[in-house]
Amino acid sequence: MDIHSWSRPDELRVRHLELDLDVDFEQKILTGSATLRFDAASSPDLVLDTRDLTIHGVDNALGFELGTPDRILGAPLRIRLSPGASWVKVRYSTSPAASGLQWLDPAQTAGKQRPFLYSQSQAIHARSWIPLQDSPGVRITFEARVSAPSGLTAVMAAERAGGHFRMRQPIPSYLVALAVGELEFRSLGERSGVFAEPSVVETAAREFSDTEAMIRAVEEMYGPYRWGRYDLLVLPPSFPFGGMENPCLTFTTPSVLAGDKSLVALVAHELAHSWSGNLVTNATWSDFWLNEGFTVYLEGRIIEKVYGLARQEMEATLGRRELDTEIASLPESDRVLHLPLKGRDPDDGCTLVPYQKGALLLRTIEREAGRARFDAFLRSYFDHFAFQSITTQDFLDYLNRELPTSVPVDEWIYRAGIPASAAEPHSDAFTRVEEQVARWRQGQAIETGRWSTQEWLHFLRTLENPDLARLDREFHFSQTGNAEILCQWLQLSIRAHYEPAFPLLDKFLCSVGRRKFLKPLYGELLKTPEGTELARSIYRRARPGYHYIARNTLDGMIGTR
Ligand code: BES
Ligand code: ZN
Repeated sequence: MDIHSWSRPDELRVRHLELDLDVDFEQKILTGSATLRFDAASSPDLVLDTRDLTIHGVDNALGFELGTPDRILGAPLRIRLSPGASWVKVRYSTSPAASGLQWLDPAQTAGKQRPFLYSQSQAIHARSWIPLQDSPGVRITFEARVSAPSGLTAVMAAERAGGHFRMRQPIPSYLVALAVGELEFRSLGERSGVFAEPSVVETAAREFSDTEAMIRAVEEMYGPYRWGRYDLLVLPPSFPFGGMENPCLTFTTPSVLAGDKSLVALVAHELAHSWSGNLVTNATWSDFWLNEGFTVYLEGRIIEKVYGLARQEMEATLGRRELDTEIASLPESDRVLHLPLKGRDPDDGCTLVPYQKGALLLRTIEREAGRARFDAFLRSYFDHFAFQSITTQDFLDYLNRELPTSVPVDEWIYRAGIPASAAEPHSDAFTRVEEQVARWRQGQAIETGRWSTQEWLHFLRTLENPDLARLDREFHFSQTGNAEILCQWLQLSIRAHYEPAFPLLDKFLCSVGRRKFLKPLYGELLKTPEGTELARSIYRRARPGYHYIARNTLDGMIGTR
């Protein structure tokens, strides 16, 4: 039972979708039809999820009724079926404010000449651009035709066949994805490549040149990649996430393009979802940790295989620290892995807990079982549940059967906090960074020789009340092209009221829409009255450029006046 969907898949289950959409940049709407195919009707009606859709008509049905919209769930579309019917065709248009679509003006793109459109369906936004059973427990195959203005390229997270798209593996609705813009393609290898705006595509191809090596790394550990091609799409900077694991076509933020591959753990993460998430999917959003915790664990294993253990232990240590910070700000009830989401938008459950606490649990089980046994377990887990959507209980039953463990798994999943037996990461490189921090505090010169992004981040996060002018003089943080380091630097600057950094802060907040950066920066500003004033003034200007999801989070923090 999925509390975030009106649909009743236990009564009637949609199996296949045929989409036919026209992209209208003038009106900022999609118009067309969705044909839904199901096993011959065993129930008198079919209930679909919608949000802000205009329904023009439903073919091959006796009638339809759009219910009252719920603030979180949207409106149920009840379709009265003809006896024995096995399909209906819904003709509809989206709203310019569709929560799952972002329509960008040319000024918001890299090229500044043409508009851009992209979708973000996870968690429950597919319903704002397609009427369907919008639950991760329902899998569909699909075919699509998308007609876009000339000179613009439409891509979908699917097999591309001429101007059409086809997904032959059954996927949950949150993975249906579309983007339209001025796009170019560069091949990265036999089965991988990258789409991006022309001025970005070369940089992106260089940054992502280890993609094939990453795919091979996961295949060696957890079995074949089952989705044909693995391509990436670099979006304009307003994309609210780091990445989104749309099948065959990961969507990414341009803020990963650091120039030195130092942020490509994000590619490892989204690629890993091709196993943990896209192959074996959380049945409900309360089981989200099955997607993300497993994926952070796999991401780490990829990083270790492709870039070495030292790099991975740094990443894991950063993640572990971020988890502690996050946990401190959360109510007890959100510190558990199986999330209580009743009456809430599943986007709100998206904290670091399912990610980092989930991965830490798997590390802990691995440590007890030994790597060889744990890898064999995971590989059989992916095979056993391939193309299924499962609950936390399904995982627990399987674990108890296949790899009984003395790790207190129930405590990890259902109780707040981190059990004492956690397999804590440890980084020798960070110990050396901490030695330099101690010297820095005493006003001494420090050796930063060939520090990686991860070491710089650890450095900045370990300093307490540093002299920012001195830091910037020596290390030029305000000139960094690395968005993670810049975000950290700006957070420190706000905390220290270091005004020389404020113009840069303003520029960053007005040009980047990634929620991971916006939340801590606005959050830091909101801690003081002057900061709050600055936050409001920046937000007024920046808000129109942010995605629905980022606006939703920030409206709650800052208010909209
Ligand atoms: N699937 C998530 C993004 C997501 C989560 C979208 C919940 C909507 C609702 C994606 O795989 C992800 O986890 N992205 C992270 C990247 C990462 C390396 C942890 C992000 O966007 O920061
Ligand atoms: Zn993820």
